[in-house]
Amino acid sequence: MTKTVKDYIRTIVDFPHEGIMFRDVTTLFADARGFRMAIDQLLNPYAGRPIDKVVGLEARGFILGGAVAHQLSTGFVPIRKKGKLPGAVISEAYQLEYGEAVMEVHDDALKPGERVLIVDDLLATGGTAEAGIKLCHRLGAEVIGCAFVIDLPELGGRKRLEGLGMEVHTLAE
Ligand code: PRP
Ligand code: HPA
Repeated sequence: MTKTVKDYIRTIVDFPHEGIMFRDVTTLFADARGFRMAIDQLLNPYAGRPIDKVVGLEARGFILGGAVAHQLSTGFVPIRKKGKLPGAVISEAYQLEYGEAVMEVHDDALKPGERVLIVDDLLATGGTAEAGIKLCHRLGAEVIGCAFVIDLPELGGRKRLEGLGMEVHTLAE
């Protein structure tokens, strides 16, 4: 039978903590057919629509977002964890399971009115993506959609982003 994107994703038990089933996309990225299939499926809903920039969320969103940007012939903008970007940044804090984290983008990375597609490997609570959306909006950009390889529906991320009016596409649950 033909393999789907989901078939290339490996589950590592008890990583990073006991009781966590970690969905590992390195096996998807390492396979030529799997990686191409994932990129094609991520950008499919957006092909032919006006997109100015692809925004990738650290870290696996960089790998996917770079390939999607290349295929859509757009620029790529990284949203990074606090303290990693060299230029002037704007920041958004978001909740983790325990505590808080901060995402940042260069303050000149997007221009007002630019249409962006946000890409990441996995949607869990949606906190990371929401911080990314807020950063894009604060720079005046329009978020056309958010695309992820994996959705963990029980964590509510899709509902959270759709509640913000976002178009959300995912490839596997
Ligand atoms: C993972 C994943 C998403 C985020 C999803 O990244 O790659 O970016 O968590 O979780 P959320 O929907 O609950 O916000 P992680 O924070 O582990 O960072 P990393 O990619 O730098 O390892
Ligand atoms: N894999 C990768 N990132 C994650 C996961 C996972 O299973 N859960 C929350 N963030």
